[in-house]
Amino acid sequence: MSAPVKIRDARLIDLDHIVHLWSELMGHHRRLEPRLYATVEHAPASFRAFIRRKMDDHEAFVLIAEDDTGIIGYLLGSVGQRAPVFDVRTVGMIFDLMVSPAVRSQGVGRRLVGAASQKFSKRGIRDLQVNYDPRNEEAAGFWAAMGFQTLLHEAYRQLP
Ligand SMILES: CC(C)(COP(=O)(O)OP(=O)(O)OC[C@H]1O[C@@H](n2cnc3c(N)ncnc32)[C@H](O)[C@@H]1OP(=O)(O)O)[C@@H](O)C(=O)NCCC(=O)NCCS
Repeated sequence: MSAPVKIRDARLIDLDHIVHLWSELMGHHRRLEPRLYATVEHAPASFRAFIRRKMDDHEAFVLIAEDDTGIIGYLLGSVGQRAPVFDVRTVGMIFDLMVSPAVRSQGVGRRLVGAASQKFSKRGIRDLQVNYDPRNEEAAGFWAAMGFQTLLHEAYRQLP
């Protein structure tokens, strides 16, 4: 890796960079599934407000990866609750993970997931969950490498 990568909690000053990465993430998903990932015009502003709230949410965290060029990745994680019928009620949800294309396959995603796992672990959470599109081959390879096993399929159908 060219420069040391630092993983830290996101700050307000990072918001624009996170929104930029999120826009790239949406573009990536749209290429896989144009209809369900089509976004409205004000989506970046909405997402900015959403991620701003997450920074203040005690149940959530936003991590960023940065090197000497700036912010090169982010991860949004949150504590999730399952139905009260289950022994395992609380899970660690990873919602967004994005690494800049220029620095992929250099361990940045692994570091972000490692830092998120530590945060969940400190809260006593042992079960992590992530949703990804099965056609997203890099995500499938990545999450398998991170030790995630596919347990559920989420199915969609468009009515005429
Ligand atoms: C998926 C993503 C986050 C991986 O980040 P990364 O920093 O490139 O991943 P790492 O370098 O930490 O890779 C860790 C391991 O994941 C696996 N992996 C990474 N990229 C992969 C790919 N394109 N295909 C298959 N496996 C891959 C490898 O086993 C790798 O270990 P190795 O380098 O020892 O072989 C990145 O490709 C990305 O941002 N993609 C676009 C957005 C996205 O799909 N996000 C996930 C959806 S929730």
